[in-house]
Amino acid sequence: MQDTHLLDPFGRRITYLRLSVTDRCDFRCTYCMSEDMVFAPRAQILSLEELYTVADAFIGLGVRRIRITGGEPLVRKGLTSLLTRLGARDELDDLAITSNGSQLEHMAHELREAGVTRLNISLDSLQRERFAAFTRRDRLDQVLSGIDAARVAGFRRIKLNTVVQKGRNDDEVQDLVAFAVDRGLDISFIEEMPLGSISSHERKVTLCTSEEVRERVEQRFQLVPSSHRTGGPSRYWQVVGSDTQVGFISPHSRNFCGDCNRVRVTAEGKLVLCLGHEGALDLKALIRRHPGDAERLRAALIEALRLKPERHHFDASEQVQVIRFMSMTGG
Ligand code: 5AD
Ligand code: SF4
Repeated sequence: MQDTHLLDPFGRRITYLRLSVTDRCDFRCTYCMSEDMVFAPRAQILSLEELYTVADAFIGLGVRRIRITGGEPLVRKGLTSLLTRLGARDELDDLAITSNGSQLEHMAHELREAGVTRLNISLDSLQRERFAAFTRRDRLDQVLSGIDAARVAGFRRIKLNTVVQKGRNDDEVQDLVAFAVDRGLDISFIEEMPLGSISSHERKVTLCTSEEVRERVEQRFQLVPSSHRTGGPSRYWQVVGSDTQVGFISPHSRNFCGDCNRVRVTAEGKLVLCLGHEGALDLKALIRRHPGDAERLRAALIEALRLKPERHHFDASEQVQVIRFMSMTGG
């Protein structure tokens, strides 16, 4: 009998796939991209059919949650048709999207209809000028309207993601929690990771640890540790008197690799076993060389998982450890 579950050498069962559907984005967040990013030629990007083939292989091997990421996934043409196919798969407990919110005003309803259960929306500031400085785009109002549309559409859960930088938005974390509480949303604060070479800031200067953020939030809100889990690396705290969970993603201050259940596939079809390592398997080459050969793909995935590294070693004092930009791999 065949083993239908993906196990890595450290006994971690892989149940969560993050699938990037494009490396393009309509924003240029300073911690994610340079202003003059060069994107992959379209022929290098997996087609919608190929994306489904990859997802299907992972579902067959025991993946139960899929998160669609980018770049900005909602700028990918035809995405809804892929989501509808995935949304119809009973094996999946969760079909989630990470988005910058720019397209949600007109797309939230259609995403929900397609079967998307959860949304993560990036929001680094509630102040127009700061938002524009973070994203290099003056679109705060558009994103806020997108968040409103998503609330109306009736997702299981909506979470905001905030990358916290010292001197840039660390004084806003209480306002962001208040914003989330007022709207019944969750929010995760993220320590910036050293992915891709960027010129806008020195990361070791702007690093704000989860511990510092939590202390600040607790000056206004009472937090109690929560057992809430979403399958990702966030540790959650409940805001007392609300149904808001505050999460902390701490690649620097807390190594979360021990319970890592995730793998990623980039828009170009590279299987990335760990965000903190360069190694990747070229699934696109395999699929294009052997179209329709599901068994070969399945065998390659099982084999590749044996190489999943035990942990990452991010270090804020080094500017770049991984050349890949976040926009290529997906958040
Ligand atoms: N470090 C931490 N988070 C990042 N994101 C993008 N680049 C980085 C980085 N270098 C986050 C975005 C978004 C999600 C897709 O990933 O803020 O919420
Ligand atoms: Fe786009 Fe997200 Fe990267 Fe910002 S963080 S540039 S929204 S992909």
